Order: sequence, then structure tokens, then C-alpha cells
Amino acid sequence: MKSTDVGPAEDFPEGEKRSAQIDGSMFLLVRVKGKVRAVDMYCPHQHSSLLFGTVTDGKIVCRTHRATFDLESGKALSGPSLKDLPTFETEEREGRVYVRT
Ligand code: FES
Repeated sequence: MKSTDVGPAEDFPEGEKRSAQIDGSMFLLVRVKGKVRAVDMYCPHQHSSLLFGTVTDGKIVCRTHRATFDLESGKALSGPSLKDLPTFETEEREGRVYVRT
């Protein structure tokens, strides 16, 4: 498993969406209740970018057909997606955020 530095921790304020590219794949990063969560950037329904989604209360709503996913577990909570959103481990070390892939 690889750990990739995606930037300084202060660049990830609570509830704000950030993106990172790791080995050609795009990830969405959102700090939820103090911990940065990393998920696949693209909605598992029809692959819209979740960077345009709305984050509320630890969940993200895809703007295209309004599928809702839990940002911690990736679980599809409502809407048309039958698949969960892939999630990835993160950690903060010495003021930097890392994603494990
Ligand atoms: S593409 Fe995200 S809900 Fe359809």
C-alpha cells in the first residue's frame, strides 16, 4: 500500500471539497468532523464529478441525479446509485495529509 502526500493540513478546512490526482486517478477529499476523508472523485451512478456535489453533515450529494453518499463509509444512502463510493484511508503526519492507495 502506498501513502501519498496531498498537501498541508491547513488546506483542508472542515466541510470543503478538495481534489487530488494520484497515479492518474482522481480523488475527492473532505474534512468531516476533523478527519480528512478520501473517496473516488466520480459518482458510481453515471460518473459525474463529485467536486460539483454538495457536502452537508458528513454526506455528499451528487448534483446530477442527487445520489447521496456517506463520506466516511462511502455507503450509498439515497438516490439512483446502487453502488457505494470507494473510500481510501487517510492520515495526518507532521502537518501534512496523506492518502493510502
Ligand atoms: S451521476 Fe451521480 S447520481 Fe447520477
